[in-house]
Amino acid sequence: MTSLIKSVQDIKNVIAESERPLALVPTMGSLHEGHISLIKAAKNECRTTIVYIFVNPLQFGPNEDFNEYPRNITGDLKICEENNVDFVFAPEAGEIYPDIENAKKNPITPPDKLRNILCGRTRQNHFSGVATVIKRFLDIVEPDFIYFGEKDLQQLHVIKWLIKEFNLPVTLKSCPTARESTGLAYSSRNKYLTHEQEVIAANLYKSLKLAKGNTRSGMFSINKSILESLIFLSPFPEIKIEYFEARDKTNLDKVADDAKHGFYYLIAARIGKIRLIDNIEVT
Ligand code: PAJ
Repeated sequence: MTSLIKSVQDIKNVIAESERPLALVPTMGSLHEGHISLIKAAKNECRTTIVYIFVNPLQFGPNEDFNEYPRNITGDLKICEENNVDFVFAPEAGEIYPDIENAKKNPITPPDKLRNILCGRTRQNHFSGVATVIKRFLDIVEPDFIYFGEKDLQQLHVIKWLIKEFNLPVTLKSCPTARESTGLAYSSRNKYLTHEQEVIAANLYKSLKLAKGNTRSGMFSINKSILESLIFLSPFPEIKIEYFEARDKTNLDKVADDAKHGFYYLIAARIGKIRLIDNIEVT
């Protein structure tokens, strides 16, 4: 039986009575198979699992989709129930940010080389917002393990930095990207794609696989592989590419053009108004 908890005090009370290890799965709700894969990993490794659902205002820019972000607490609770989650922690913003103006003015700010690259170039303050909210939930819940998806690879690196920077007593667990049968990575925003757009969106992952194949076979350098993938995507004018880059696996630095492994290809693109990201590891 999953319990829904809304206040910081109540979650602290139930945690005090719960068995450890304790897992925290941070989400913004509208749960899908990607989130479920994190829940399953948590359930596998921990005695108590808490899923938090909180659409974090701090990580959305003024022109982004905070108000339109999909919210579905009834559906989310059902999914958590089906997956034997112990507690769903879904606080109001005031519980997390008693003084939101102050939180906005003084966020936790990851280093520029992590925060201003890739998605950070177009989503100013996004990763400061993510770091701030995760630190807040870690301070409240004090879990033994915290679970994140590799789909949001830059976010994963920000959390790695956060844990190290504040010397937090928690182990970070990362889970592979869950995908539809077409290869499209599950995302809460996919529900805003029309069927046609969804079919087109599957080409993002195809373009990543193509780049990986071209590099691994030794056929092309990284830059040439990226170019080939951009050519592959060019018949789809609906796909507006924001970036297609290769970045080092350990620190997201740029990689040499002749690197053959130890990096990721990452893509961000808009289809209509929907912004999608994905990545693939080149092993
Ligand atoms: P959200 O987009 O709800 O994602 C919550 C977690 O699910 C993140 O760790 C994300 O990487 C993971 N996830 C999303 N889609 C996935 C997929 N297809 N396969 C595997 N994992 C997937 O990311 C956020 O929320 C927020 O930024 C948050 C971390 C909760 C902070 O506000």
